[in-house]
Amino acid sequence: MIKHYRRLALLTVLVLTLTLLAACGDPTATTAPAATTATKAATAAATTTAAAAATTAAVANSGLPKIAKKDKYTVGFAQSESNNPWRLAQSKSMQDEADKLGWKLVVTDAASSTAKQAADVESMIAQKVDAIFLTPREEKPLVPAIMKAKAAGIPVFLLDRNVDQTLAQGGKDYVTFIGSDFVLEGKQAAEWLIKQTGGKGNIIELLGSTGASPANDRRKGFEDAIVGTPGLKIVAAQDGDFTRDTGRKVMETLLQAHPEVTVVYAHNDEMALGAIAALQAAGKTPGKDVIIVSIDGEKDGIQAVIDGKIGATVECNPRFGPKAYETLVKYANGDTIPTKIINPDKFFDISNAKDFIAAAY
Ligand code: AHR
Repeated sequence: MIKHYRRLALLTVLVLTLTLLAACGDPTATTAPAATTATKAATAAATTTAAAAATTAAVANSGLPKIAKKDKYTVGFAQSESNNPWRLAQSKSMQDEADKLGWKLVVTDAASSTAKQAADVESMIAQKVDAIFLTPREEKPLVPAIMKAKAAGIPVFLLDRNVDQTLAQGGKDYVTFIGSDFVLEGKQAAEWLIKQTGGKGNIIELLGSTGASPANDRRKGFEDAIVGTPGLKIVAAQDGDFTRDTGRKVMETLLQAHPEVTVVYAHNDEMALGAIAALQAAGKTPGKDVIIVSIDGEKDGIQAVIDGKIGATVECNPRFGPKAYETLVKYANGDTIPTKIINPDKFFDISNAKDFIAAAY
């Protein structure tokens, strides 16, 4: 009996040993495919990482000027104009954050002149600032100034407004665009309006400044979104230059030609507030006779939502300071910077306007 068990044990050891030897030597043994898969995955991962590194290198070495690492920087901020609360809030955020960091900020105000803004950038180049933050008033005419800065070895960061992508690109001609998704803003305004009106209305569209990326994109986002709603018709669309006074004047004129208007879509709150004044002067009640939807979320705009005059306003956040300088520091450290950094924006209507009025600008 004992002999029998000994033989059985020897046989078992022999079988196990042979199985192990076969598994090690034979690539088709059961453990081999898993090992091969793991090897393939590791190789693929390494290849992907290598490709990603190459892309990163391509961005980092694509001819864009570098910034030396420093404790404090001197940077330029070329503002397009200072004629509405949004732009004042943007400039304040840039200055406050620069003060907090102890950086020197060279600020210019182009006072609504695209030519002056281009000259402002050139003056910053002459002053040899470390970097330029530019909010291009129009999509096309600021491109030569961006190219001059690049040629002078000064990196440009676009803030809030973009340039024509066929003329200049992020990661190649300028570092990045930081700002809102303007097409989405227009789309959100349209979607709210479709729900609110049941898909019927005669719309006056107050456009932002001609040639500015938010004016082009907010128009596109809105108009594309109402294409499938034939009951919503744009009866007139005109440039209100993003200001309250021009918005009011344009609305006064358009109201005479289109007394059938039931909706105003304004590309910013200031023009919506101008439209409210024009509607009231014409004996119409904003929010009842005419539904208003706009963009920005400034204090007066949110107050008009609370008062029932503006139905909804899509946020466009002007507080760029922290994100702008944090991006510069990352760039100086050699980090990969995405060619677009999109701000997350809120949406204000009667359900939440009271919660945000205190923090508004
Ligand atoms: O570029 C952002 C737009 O410009 C804001 O909506 C507007 O108020 C500003 O002038």
